[in-house]
Amino acid sequence: MDILNRATLGYLDSGSKVKSSVAVRKSSIQGLGVFALKDFEAEEAILIIDDSDVIADPSKLTKHDHEFELDYLENGKIVRMKAPEKYINHSCDPDSYAKTINGARKVFALRKITAGEEITYDYSMNDYSEGTFKCHCGAENCRKIYQGNFFKLPREIQTKYLPYLEAWFKNEHRDEIGLLVKSERIPRTTLR
Ligand SMILES: C[S@@+](CC[C@H](N)C(=O)[O-])C[C@H]1O[C@@H](n2cnc3c(N)ncnc32)[C@H](O)[C@@H]1O
Ligand SMILES: [Zn+2]
Repeated sequence: MDILNRATLGYLDSGSKVKSSVAVRKSSIQGLGVFALKDFEAEEAILIIDDSDVIADPSKLTKHDHEFELDYLENGKIVRMKAPEKYINHSCDPDSYAKTINGARKVFALRKITAGEEITYDYSMNDYSEGTFKCHCGAENCRKIYQGNFFKLPREIQTKYLPYLEAWFKNEHRDEIGLLVKSERIPRTTLR
């Protein structure tokens, strides 16, 4: 059942009211998830993220808030996520990513997505935390334990995700990013 279907009205680029293109439903990954109601082409915007609820006093936040409600952005900014994006589950083989373009943070398709598929992203992108959970994404390449620090991902996954990282994340971690870029650009033969 689409319990939050109507909450997505008006979420797409044009600003005009458009037909809802995602729905929140029970997920086989965990709890609720976000599902495509139409096909998306690779790089197509799926929804605009609403980051307007900024946490002024993080001292009163609970474990549940940290696990299910919050997102962690540039310069330590914490926001309370809104529906439908707050229901996007993690996958080790994601079909979307979140990125800020011209000031608007959006979820984009990482590849072609077919109507009915669950929209997932890899929470490790833009994450520098020590948070962990047992991953139930079900992907063939599931890492089994989600761990938050992007730079602890296997090197080939870091490299694959490089184009999708937020500018602020690359800026705040420019030394580690620089090392990653350098290690990818220098042919092995020149290192001998
Ligand atoms: C923002 S919530 C995602 C929506 C959540 N399914 C719900 O119903 O509210 C993030 C939390 O969902 C759970 N979660 C998300 N992806 C998961 C996965 N692949 N495996 C296990 N738990 C996951 C974790 O507890 C994580 O901290
Ligand atoms: Zn997984």
